[in-house]
Amino acid sequence: MPVPSTMTAIEIVKPGGPEVLEPTTRPVPTAQAGEVLIRVRAAGVNRPDVLQRQGGYAPPPGASDIPGLEVAGEIVATAGDVLGLTVGDRVMALVAGGGYAEYCVAPAGQCLPIPGGVSVIEAGGIPETFFTVWTNVFDRAALGHGESFLVHGGASGIGTTAIQLARAAGARVFATAGTGEKCRACMALGAEQAVNYREADFEQSIREATQGAGVDVILDMVGGDYTARNLALLREEGRLVQIAFLKGSKVQVDLNAVMRKRLTLTGSTLRPRTVAQKSAIADKLRSRVLPWLEAGKVRSVVHATYPLRAAAAAHAALEADRHVGKIVLELG
Ligand SMILES: NC(=O)c1ccc[n+]([C@@H]2O[C@H](COP(=O)([O-])OP(=O)(O)OC[C@H]3O[C@@H](n4cnc5c(N)ncnc54)[C@H](OP(=O)(O)O)[C@@H]3O)[C@@H](O)[C@H]2O)c1
Repeated sequence: MPVPSTMTAIEIVKPGGPEVLEPTTRPVPTAQAGEVLIRVRAAGVNRPDVLQRQGGYAPPPGASDIPGLEVAGEIVATAGDVLGLTVGDRVMALVAGGGYAEYCVAPAGQCLPIPGGVSVIEAGGIPETFFTVWTNVFDRAALGHGESFLVHGGASGIGTTAIQLARAAGARVFATAGTGEKCRACMALGAEQAVNYREADFEQSIREATQGAGVDVILDMVGGDYTARNLALLREEGRLVQIAFLKGSKVQVDLNAVMRKRLTLTGSTLRPRTVAQKSAIADKLRSRVLPWLEAGKVRSVVHATYPLRAAAAAHAALEADRHVGKIVLELG
């Protein structure tokens, strides 16, 4: 089918609540050298999209103002050297913006084939959390086989991915979440124990679960008063990786604990990184994680889907915080 000149997309008409997300008509973007144009069938909704909608997370220079950091669909056009990708290929792609639209351009290196047995809807919810978890938990924190791992927000898109990847890599996995139902979901995904942080002190609970040893790696999106407790819970040579700070970025750190236990405190953001850096992460996902997806060892946990035009309702659902896994926009 020929590519039309215009498409339906969702724009942020002004910073605000979910209602500022409105359908609009935009020109179909053109693939530049090294990029592909994707007919979008599914677009994942992520917490950073909410921050962007609220006016707190501007797109990096050159990125689309249309929200959406991940898509899945089929390639309808290519430009320049695109690493063996061709029109008709079914791919899932990490993008720096523009996902909430019928068509989206993506750098070829940030595209991955949709593995057999994975639906296009499930694929739409994969790139953002899988790239983020891989680069933080494995590249930065070097989580190893037999080590112990704690992820906060275990029922989130990031958390459900982190639990499964860490488990698949042979780690002992622990999680925190805000309800008993979410904790049970974390355990069904492979967590040995999940702590409802509203009912129990996670530091004490995880210490007990590890016979006082603590854990080797923590993936944290909370910050605030969690930071000191995270550092206290880490074993010698432990690594704390920060990917967000829902309870605040200004924290007090006891450097004595860092020195005494030889800890590493690190973190990263994904969106502003270069195409080369994101493509390097894609290469690792291609060799290490696609086989796990293909074998059903890890899966994309989709909580709910919404039509593209109902992006506002999808954001409201994400912010209601009752989901386990991903919320995905579905396109015809
Ligand atoms: N640095 C990066 O590269 C990067 C990339 C992607 C995402 N992120 C960040 O990672 C986080 C998760 O993203 P997502 O898309 O997976 O989001 P999500 O599915 O909306 O999940 C957010 C989670 O945060 C938990 N939460 C909210 N407020 C909390 C609080 N005060 N204390 C403890 N937990 C709280 C909620 O779980 P409970 O109900 O269990 O509290 C919820 O499951 C977001 O903060 C996002 O900005 C960072």
